[in-house]
Amino acid sequence: MTEQLTEQEATAAASGAAATARFRQKNLQVNASQERVNAIATDALQALHEVIRKHKVTYSEYDALKAWLIQVGEDGEWPLFLDVWIEHVVEQVANENRKGSAGSIEGPYYVPGAPELPSECTLPMREDEPGTPLALYGRVTSVDGEPLPHAKVEIWHADDLGYYSQYAPGLPEWNLRGTCIADEEGRYKIHTIKPAPYEIPKDGACGKLIAAAGWSAWRPAHLHLKVSAPGHQLITVQLYFDGEDYVDNDIASAVKPELILKPTPVGDGDGLEAHKDFVLDPE
Ligand code: DHB
Ligand code: FE
Repeated sequence: MTEQLTEQEATAAASGAAATARFRQKNLQVNASQERVNAIATDALQALHEVIRKHKVTYSEYDALKAWLIQVGEDGEWPLFLDVWIEHVVEQVANENRKGSAGSIEGPYYVPGAPELPSECTLPMREDEPGTPLALYGRVTSVDGEPLPHAKVEIWHADDLGYYSQYAPGLPEWNLRGTCIADEEGRYKIHTIKPAPYEIPKDGACGKLIAAAGWSAWRPAHLHLKVSAPGHQLITVQLYFDGEDYVDNDIASAVKPELILKPTPVGDGDGLEAHKDFVLDPE
């Protein structure tokens, strides 16, 4: 009989393999010209050559790098590596001209097609889902203040132990994932639980780099969202919690001041609620 694994038995190799498999299902649209590939690849290599000269990198360090890069691939950790250390700059450049709400990185754990839910909804969760109840509510509008009826608010986040469904064993498929459809006035209210901070898996190549460099492996507790409406630009965003651990020391450098929620206790004292409006730019 095979024993059922629990989420705490997640391994870097298993969550990395799942993130890699998911990424491979993405519909890639790449049409870079030879000129652009040449310009970017040449500059990227020159930047690396400069680091080698500056630090007088030795042959043994070069071999360590080669071994480490091979292990990143073997552990399936390329999505994790890129989303932790590179994506925040891609996001910054992609959205620098936006007038509406600020975005943030997507990270490796988005799964399209989460169950559709009404404008006030509770995310799929286990009967005894641990964690502080949290209600996130607000409105989706255009940059000129018009409500966007039936805007789509996709949300996904880690549980109270910091694990994501579909990337750690033992969790129901759509746990803490949903697609909330806003009402006529663009309003939404999502009942869930507050996620825990997320620690980069320590037993894989990324964890090895973090340990070798003496870095913190943590991301602050966060909610992931994708907010969209016809004729408007989709925004991918994360929301954080004021005053909590790692908000000032996110290994993925993905916190922005306007993305920090200030939750308040709900009337009857059972849990928290937090307000967040989203403003979408026209397409
Ligand atoms: C990673 C994990 C996250 O939950 C996230 O939001 C961003 C990056 C990662 O492990 O790479
Ligand atoms: Fe995340």
